[in-house]
Amino acid sequence: MKKPVWYSRAKGDPRAEFVAFSAGRDVVPILEADSVLIPYDLWTNRSHAVGLREIGVYTGAECKKVLQALHQLEREWENGSWKLDPQLEDVHINIESRVAEICGEEISGRLHSGRSRNDQVACDMKLYARDVILGFMTESMELIHSLLEHAGNHADTVMPGYTHHRKATITSWGHWCASYAQGLLRDMQRFADLYKRINACPLGAAAAYGTTWPLDRKLTAKLLAFDGVQENTLDAVSSRGEAEAEIVQCLACLMKRLACFSQDIILFSTEEFGYLALPSDFTTGSSIMPQKRNPDFAEAIKGKSHVIAGLAQALISIDGANLSGYNKDVQWSKYLFLDAVREAGGAATILANVVMSMTVHADRMEQAARSGFLNAVDVADYLARSRRLPFRKTYTLMSEAVGASTKNYFQFQELNQVLVDHHAALLSSSEFEKLNDPMKCLLSRSHIGSPNPKQVRRQIQAMKRKSETFQKWIQKQQDFIQSAQKRCRRALEIEGKQTSRP
Ligand code: ARG
Repeated sequence: MKKPVWYSRAKGDPRAEFVAFSAGRDVVPILEADSVLIPYDLWTNRSHAVGLREIGVYTGAECKKVLQALHQLEREWENGSWKLDPQLEDVHINIESRVAEICGEEISGRLHSGRSRNDQVACDMKLYARDVILGFMTESMELIHSLLEHAGNHADTVMPGYTHHRKATITSWGHWCASYAQGLLRDMQRFADLYKRINACPLGAAAAYGTTWPLDRKLTAKLLAFDGVQENTLDAVSSRGEAEAEIVQCLACLMKRLACFSQDIILFSTEEFGYLALPSDFTTGSSIMPQKRNPDFAEAIKGKSHVIAGLAQALISIDGANLSGYNKDVQWSKYLFLDAVREAGGAATILANVVMSMTVHADRMEQAARSGFLNAVDVADYLARSRRLPFRKTYTLMSEAVGASTKNYFQFQELNQVLVDHHAALLSSSEFEKLNDPMKCLLSRSHIGSPNPKQVRRQIQAMKRKSETFQKWIQKQQDFIQSAQKRCRRALEIEGKQTSRP
C-alpha cells in the first residue's frame, strides 16, 4: 500500500478513514448524480407496474415480466454489466430503455402510462431523502452516545467556562460535552419532524395535472412506504426540491454544531491550552515540517459546514418564483442536495471516534480554573446571600477586589481588606477556602441544568432515555421501509392476483 510522504515521519500510521476524510475530494472521483437514484427509481418503477396491473394496463403475467426485467436490471447493475448511458439523458430513460430491451416494447411501452418523469423523479428523490435523514440520524446517534459516555466520565473534571473566548466562570468538561449532546438531540428532533412532514407520495401526479388513467395513488404510496399521498398533483411536482432544501437546512444546523465542537477540540488540544490530547493516528502530517501533526479532520468539518450553509442557501433559491409546474431549473437541486449529503457524511462518525479516544488533561483544566478570578461571581453571590446585600453591591466589591489583587486569583487577606474598606462582614477562612475550591463552587449550583456534577449526571440519564426513543424510532422507519420494499419486489406472489387486460 502506498503511503503519503509524511507517514514515515509520524509516530504511528494514521487511520485511513481520517486521512480520506481530510483529503476531501482532491483525488477521488464523484459519481454521476443519477447513479444514486438507481435503486429508488427501480422501486418507483416496481410500484407503478403493480399500480398499472391493478387498473388492467398490465395483465398479471405482463406485470410479472416487468418486475422480472427490473430484477434482472438490478442484478446487472450490481455486477457492473449495466451502467447509465449518457446518451440516454437520465436514470429514468436509461431504465425504461433497458426494460424495453429485456421484455420488449409491447410491454415496456405501457410502463409510462399515467406517469411523467416529473412525478417519477420527485418520488425517487423523496425515497432517497428519507434514507438520507435516517442515515444522518444514525450517524448523529453515534456521536450522542460517545458524548454522553464521555460526559459521564468527566462530570467532576473542573475547567474554566468561557465567554468571548475569555475565561468566565467555573464549569466542568462533562457539562461542556453534555451541552453538545443536548444540541444534537434537538437536531435529531428536527430530522424526525421533517421526516414526518415529507413522507407523502408524489407518484401519480404525472406531469403535474393528473392523468386519465384511474391510478390508485394510495396503493402505490403504500408500496413505497409513504404515510400517505401528496394529494394535489400540482404541489406534488412543484414542491420538488423543497424537502431537499429543508434537509440541507437541518444539515447546516448539525454541521454548524459539529464545526463548533471541532473548533473547541482544535483550541483545547493546542500546546498552549493543553486540555486535550488527540491520538496521533487521528491527525495528519505536514509535507515539510516533520515534527507536526495537525487536526485536519476538525478543520475539514469546519470547512464543510460553511459549504453546506451555502448549499442550503442555493437550494432554497433554485426554482424561486418560477411558474408553477415542472421547470428544468429544479434538476440542479439534485446536484446541490447530493453535494451536501456527500460533504456532511461521516463528520459525526469521525467526531464520535475522536471523543472516545482523546485524552483529557484534567490537571491542566483544573489549574486553569484556579486562576483568572473565575469564582468572582460565586463570591459575590455568596456575600449577597449570607450578608443580605444587593448583588450589585457585592459585584462592585468583587470588582474592587480583583483590581486590588496582587495575584491572578483571590487571596484571603487581600479580599478581606476590601470588605473591611467597605464595612462589610469579613469572610472566615473556612468560608474563603470553600469559595476558592472550584469543585465546591460547582456543587453550590444546585439548579436543573447546571454544571453541578449531580445535575450533569441527571442530564445525561435523561438524554440517554431520549436517545433510546430516537433509536427505536429510526429502527421502526427502517423496518417499515424494508418490509415495503420486500412486498413490492414480491408483489405478484403476495397478492396472488393474475388479472388480464380488458
Ligand atoms: N432528469 C430530470 C430531473 O432530474 C427528470 C425530469 C425531466 N422532466 C422533464 N419534463 N424534462 O429533473
